[in-house]
Amino acid sequence: MEKGKLIVFEGLDGSGKGTQTALLLQYVQKLGRRVCLTAEPTASSTGGIIRDALGGFTKRDAYELSALFMADRVFHNVNPKNGIKQYLEKGIDVICDRYYYSSFAYQGIDADLDWVMQINLGCKEITKPDLCIFLDVDIESCDERIDSSRLDREIYENKETQKRIRERFFEVFKRLSGSENIKIVNAVRSIEEVSEDVIRIYDSLRQDKN
Ligand code: TYD
Repeated sequence: MEKGKLIVFEGLDGSGKGTQTALLLQYVQKLGRRVCLTAEPTASSTGGIIRDALGGFTKRDAYELSALFMADRVFHNVNPKNGIKQYLEKGIDVICDRYYYSSFAYQGIDADLDWVMQINLGCKEITKPDLCIFLDVDIESCDERIDSSRLDREIYENKETQKRIRERFFEVFKRLSGSENIKIVNAVRSIEEVSEDVIRIYDSLRQDKN
């Protein structure tokens, strides 16, 4: 049986990942394919520790946070209840809101980037995505979107940090350009325009492999 595809969405906080993952899910379902939507950090107990740190309730070192995200990602792949690997094995596509590229860009601004990349890319239980779609939005637009949708801001959600994270994302994409399938989509457009691009990219991924 043909394996499912792992499709990851990345972007700064407020880049519209929630909207675009939901629209792609609908599209793939309409094609009659089996697909599921998931996200990181997960709902596991490690995910809980991570959210506590993101909210600023418990301060965690960047290396500690990198290791927690990595542990959560292994769980996300291998857990027998709803792990990514078993969906892919059953031919089900998986759409994932954030994955290791976020660890590289977010933890990689404080922890050693090479090390963060190594622990994730070198772990055989962490599946390499078939596609990563980066929703690119400028810092000002993200900041406005965060303002209009949230009461509290998480530790990374300030303009100066988001600027560094955005630069890190691009540095990482350059480094990975020979080994990973990464597509950058201009997301400072209408929801429909962005979604059309996303669908086009998904369609070409399916054609490539069929
Ligand atoms: P986010 O997609 O904003 O989820 P929510 O809408 O539920 O807040 O992700 C939560 C935060 O986690 C976001 O600021 C990015 C951060 N993050 C990392 O720092 N490293 C990682 O490896 C992942 C997956 C997320």
